[in-house]
Amino acid sequence: MAHKSDLIASDIEAYLKSQEEKSLLRFITCGSVDDGKSTLIGRLLYESKLIFEDQLSALEADSKKMGTQGDRIDFALLVDGLASEREQGITIDVAYRFFSTEKRKFIVADTPGHEQYTRNMATGASTADLAIILIDARKGILTQTRRHSFIVSRLGIENVVLAVNKMDLVGYSQQVFSDIEIAYRAFARELGGIEHITAIPISALEGDNVVEHGEAMGWYTGPTLLEHLETVGVRDAAQSKPFRMPVQWVNRPNLDFRGFSGFVTSGVIRPGDRIKVLPSAKESTIKRIVTMDGDLDEAVAGQSVTLTLEDEIDISRGDMICAAGDPTEVATQFETTILWMADEPMFPGRPYILKIGTTTVNATITRPKYRIDVNTLAHEAAHELDLNEVGVCNISVDRAIPFDAYNDNRDTGGFILIDKITNSTVGMGMIHFALRRSSNVHWQALDVDRTTRAAIKGQKPIVLWFTGLSGSGKSTIANIVDRKLIARGAHTTILDGDNVRHGLNKDLGFTDADRVENIRRVAEVAKLMTDAGLITLVSFISPFRAERRMARELMGENEFKVVHVDTPLEVAEQRDVKGLYKKARDGKIKNFTGIDSPYERPENAAITIDTTKTSPEEAADVIISHLEDWGVIARE
Ligand code: ADX
Repeated sequence: MAHKSDLIASDIEAYLKSQEEKSLLRFITCGSVDDGKSTLIGRLLYESKLIFEDQLSALEADSKKMGTQGDRIDFALLVDGLASEREQGITIDVAYRFFSTEKRKFIVADTPGHEQYTRNMATGASTADLAIILIDARKGILTQTRRHSFIVSRLGIENVVLAVNKMDLVGYSQQVFSDIEIAYRAFARELGGIEHITAIPISALEGDNVVEHGEAMGWYTGPTLLEHLETVGVRDAAQSKPFRMPVQWVNRPNLDFRGFSGFVTSGVIRPGDRIKVLPSAKESTIKRIVTMDGDLDEAVAGQSVTLTLEDEIDISRGDMICAAGDPTEVATQFETTILWMADEPMFPGRPYILKIGTTTVNATITRPKYRIDVNTLAHEAAHELDLNEVGVCNISVDRAIPFDAYNDNRDTGGFILIDKITNSTVGMGMIHFALRRSSNVHWQALDVDRTTRAAIKGQKPIVLWFTGLSGSGKSTIANIVDRKLIARGAHTTILDGDNVRHGLNKDLGFTDADRVENIRRVAEVAKLMTDAGLITLVSFISPFRAERRMARELMGENEFKVVHVDTPLEVAEQRDVKGLYKKARDGKIKNFTGIDSPYERPENAAITIDTTKTSPEEAADVIISHLEDWGVIARE
């Protein structure tokens, strides 16, 4: 269940509409555990005149002990409530808290400080205008400080407040403060991307320099934290950028009306303006801007509208409507920065879903170029990315998508990656630029197609994908099936793990990442074989669901059948035809499937063979009769 005070951004947004005359600052607080984040946020909320009411009541209801003083809640109890909520709220990605002063309104993204919650921090930061990097004056700059600053800089947040907290515990020493400031500025310079740094010595507990200056640090002449937050320039850049509206849906209530609805992510549009639709590159002119409250003379970034056009052009969900004179680019391959947010590592070659704006496409990381050490900023060679690691990777998608470089436009250049099986978000990324090869490599249409190739062989092409533990009997059975098919005049080929690993895949071992790549290549080869019209027998352990699924999607449901050679580990180990299980048990082979590397059983195999009950010869007959049923070969 969602936490009561985990306010939905849209609720806040609605409330903000009623306060439109004030400008809005979105910020995030980043700090390690115990840096005093709750105290600081509590102090800001406490001192501000207006706390979002639902939030207040939710907080009160949550931490039953919370008391009130007149119309304000007790400071210590408020801080307590925030902290305990964050501790319990592991399921909360980000808690957005709203407060407002006479000068400005604020949304603060409050995220946990532990390293394992880096992804939450990044989620909160992705919409922030400013980041408060909180430092414990006694500890100085920590790995978490560097990690957070790194992410902040890569997410395009140009304003950072270095809040050096707990000054009361270092005797309000100016020296301590300025040492930290100097070290941080040096690190930030190396990092790049952070334009403005304002360092403020504070004590969130005592209140010094948070809202009021206080007596303790006469040597500090800059603004208090709240003064700075109230006056810092927020570039209202979204409106000054070229017009972009990703189409959310096509609105066609009757034959006379055809409108394209979406959220304007940047720029301004008026009736009469020329637009270009991407990826199709078709152009037209805006006829009307339709909303629930009547037509508009103009629409600006941040508004949801429906556009109608002068011309009948084909537009569907996921397309991007752009200013004709300044459209997005379109490409299928990119260099990107990726922050990996899942426990399971990111493997090159594994298919993920990439969501950018309203567009969803299939994506694979084609090449991780390097991982970045957030402490030293060094580039390290990487074959995969683990939880919370950041890397620069080339990525390839299966359909051309409209995009801007993230540095130019956060909304049209930022994306998330989603796991195809669990549907959870596993990474976030930023597009640097399109790789030139993506526009220079074209698909070559061939005169003889796959149907023709298969037809002259008198069969339907298919992949029989044998999966199972090492020594389960995959190759033995595939071999007999092959022999029987050939005897009937069928055209076949066999791809066998042990053999392919001697040639095409001899550069690959048995780490998870290598197995992913092993199967990706074999699936592509199997695809070429079926294009040639062959019945293709593939015999690989193929232990991961994700890759078997990828192969299925490559070939299509009708031309891809999984044969699960289901031999229990004990039985395979006892047979130990190649003596590998013994070696694995003796620790002489690492990452052995079933011993110290997982095998994910298929959930929907077309054929399952229990080799403890069925002989290889019988198994082959079962498979052949399925091939007849599927119309792959003629019945005898
Ligand atoms: S897969 O997991 O990437 O699909 P593949 O089928 O290509 O594996 O190769 C498996 C074969 O490699 C096994 O049948 C076995 O002979 C050999 N082998 C060597 N080391 C290992 C290992 N660590 N785990 C599994 N098989 C191994």
